[in-house]
Amino acid sequence: MIRINENYTKLKASYLFSDIAKRVNAFVAAHPAKPVIRLGIGDVTEPLPSVCLEAFHAGVEEMGHRATFKGYGPEQGYAFLREAIAQHDYAARGCKIDADEIFVSDGSKCDCGNIQEIFGTDIRLAIPDPVYPVYVDTNVMAGRTGANTNGRYEGVTYLESTPANGYVPAIPSVATDLIYLCFPNNPTGAVATRAQLAAWVAYAKANRAIILFDSAYEAYIRDPQIPHSIYEISGARDVAIEFRSYSKTAGFTGTRCAYTVVPKSLQAWDAAGNAHSVHALWNRRHTTKFNGASYPVQKAAAAIYTDAGKQQVRAMTDFYLGNAKLIREAMGRLNLPCVGGDNAPYIWINTGRDSWEFFDQMLNTAQVVCTPGAGFGRCGEGHVRISAFNSRDNVVAALERIARALK
Ligand code: MLT
Repeated sequence: MIRINENYTKLKASYLFSDIAKRVNAFVAAHPAKPVIRLGIGDVTEPLPSVCLEAFHAGVEEMGHRATFKGYGPEQGYAFLREAIAQHDYAARGCKIDADEIFVSDGSKCDCGNIQEIFGTDIRLAIPDPVYPVYVDTNVMAGRTGANTNGRYEGVTYLESTPANGYVPAIPSVATDLIYLCFPNNPTGAVATRAQLAAWVAYAKANRAIILFDSAYEAYIRDPQIPHSIYEISGARDVAIEFRSYSKTAGFTGTRCAYTVVPKSLQAWDAAGNAHSVHALWNRRHTTKFNGASYPVQKAAAAIYTDAGKQQVRAMTDFYLGNAKLIREAMGRLNLPCVGGDNAPYIWINTGRDSWEFFDQMLNTAQVVCTPGAGFGRCGEGHVRISAFNSRDNVVAALERIARALK
């Protein structure tokens, strides 16, 4: 008799954004005359930068000719992209990352979800609350947690982000082995200072732990004091894996391209105490289960590192940050405390009300979709996340509707 992976029965019935999409689609079907504005899931709305589009077209064209056609590419990504990443995303910030420490993929969601496979099933997890649900759910699927009681899985050390700590969690007082961090943060939009990241690196070193650092939103950082990469912190090469994505940087949510950095100096241990190269383990996993992102997509991604590409990416992220500023100002006028939006495309609003009830009110009364904070974890209760990803007209209209609904 075929049996299921019973760890799946510990999960909520559906993934947060699928659940929200279902509710929104039901509303739209029932009220076809009421146009909904979506500021929920962080899905970009601006078209690809023109440099990316041109490179994408050129890559497709090459695939149509015998002389330039390409079959399977290197699973880890083409050298032209890995070298551009090493130079522009790392060397330019003083970080020593070699091109062969970079693994190109078709998305950070997959990488963040898959990376846990190379670690033991009995390791101790430290996971933020609120959090991007992928980190938690993939560990539940793998059997690293117990049951969920009152919104918390047994066996997880939760790193609480609250108004009291400015939504940047403190270092835990207990030892853990695998630590998930995301800055600029999804969902709160909070950023971590150099000193805060240095404390995490020291904690990881002391515990022979690994930090999984998700910096998918680094292109939104405007404060020059805030690190873009964990590798800006001395010693991080020995304790951290970093995830980056072109989704929010250059509008690739539908195009799919991302990368993960696994330094060769990173080690993890077997039960007998022997050290293993984490880079070698990830390379084994990646080459076995992944056949590389498509050539034209990697060409498109590499185009953002040209001078014109850098300008276009900056203009795009500035545009969304302009939306974020309007959202923050509108929340201020409504006396709703919020964080984020200055170095991140998300604004985290402390409504002080049940977050699903607030979500329902926004959908039913204002026809605006936000994301209920409780969907990101217990500490998200009382909050909602509004995303800055939409046209300026839609953001302005949504803010007017929210103000009317809350009057
Ligand atoms: C979000 O809205 O949290 C993100 O769009 C999710 C993602 O990047 O997968």
